[in-house]
Amino acid sequence: MVFRINEAISCIGKVDWELRTFHGQELSTHRGSSYNSYLVRDNKTALIDTVWGPFSGEFVENLKKEISLDEIDYVIANHGESDHSGALPELMRHIPDVPIYCTSRAIDSLTGLYHEDWNFQVVKTGDTLSIGSKELTFIEAPMLHWPDSMMSYLTGDNVLFSNDAFGQHIASELMYNDLVDQAELFQEAIKYYANILTPFSKLVDKKIKEIIALNIPVDMICPSHGVIWRNDPLQIVKQYIQWARAYSENQITIAYDTMWNGTRRMAEAIAEGITAADPEVTVKLFNIARSDKSDLITEIFKSKAVLIGSPTVNKGILSAAAAILEEMRGLKFQNKKAAAFGCYGWSGEGIKVISQRLKEGGFQLLNDGITKKWNPNIEAIDNCIRFGKDVALNVRSA
Ligand code: FEO
Repeated sequence: MVFRINEAISCIGKVDWELRTFHGQELSTHRGSSYNSYLVRDNKTALIDTVWGPFSGEFVENLKKEISLDEIDYVIANHGESDHSGALPELMRHIPDVPIYCTSRAIDSLTGLYHEDWNFQVVKTGDTLSIGSKELTFIEAPMLHWPDSMMSYLTGDNVLFSNDAFGQHIASELMYNDLVDQAELFQEAIKYYANILTPFSKLVDKKIKEIIALNIPVDMICPSHGVIWRNDPLQIVKQYIQWARAYSENQITIAYDTMWNGTRRMAEAIAEGITAADPEVTVKLFNIARSDKSDLITEIFKSKAVLIGSPTVNKGILSAAAAILEEMRGLKFQNKKAAAFGCYGWSGEGIKVISQRLKEGGFQLLNDGITKKWNPNIEAIDNCIRFGKDVALNVRSA
């Protein structure tokens, strides 16, 4: 992928239509992704980020079509993670002495990943690099989403190269936000935020305030994944501010695993109770073991309350329920309510285990949960409906 954004800036990257998981198998990418590298030309030439390692050869060949490699004066590494730095070893083989501008922590990640003694130049927030009539200003962005992350801002063109922030895992031949399906774009943007940036929401909020306080014009935001925000670029910044502040919609998510459908029947009865008590709340049910976990995390991110269900097994819970609870703990969701449910045959520890994990994950427990020995009978179903009504009223009044 090579295209001109304007006179000064070209995008040289890789649209990865085949990608279906990211971070190993951790994150689903139903719509593929892209790794965006940007070439900025003035009197001097700077290359901002590269692409993932498997596409190194293709990347360097594309770059050569755009510019003779010895005309590259500076490399900017906004972030050391492999999807943006993976082509550095191949590139630096051709231009070994060219300085690489990065944060001090990126020296740690880049040398740790590639074991090369490149010509690193450490930059901090506010440092600038003149490329002629324009300059690049660096803005450290630790934990957005690695300690080594930073953004680069190009004066004159007023472009923020934001790296992972404001990105989306979308493969498209249309690389601008105004050209793609808006529902798909925002679905992927919220999924990206929910699964990657949620634990750092307080820092996201702080960093955005810091950038706004700089009072710099932003005509375009060029992230390192997905489409470029050229039409009303601040819309994604405003959206991030909302997502960073204990975001929720009017939704309750019920996520469960089940062995012989007893816990599923409880889930459905609880949903019936919620809808009866609050017909306006969106209730969504997911069998955790059959659902895409990254999509489920996105639904949890959107929820005011989350109900997690599992039958008791081996004095614990089913592994799919345990896995999503572990993910929920790590993501540090803010201001969400939760409760446990599930049936059992013999010992019945399941809801206590779930409640404990929810508490550890920072969720506010609505109650002690609801459990039923063996398959729920009519009375137990009625109890679940009542439980759902109580949950709805409690969540609505909060
Ligand atoms: Fe943190 Fe897109 O890498």
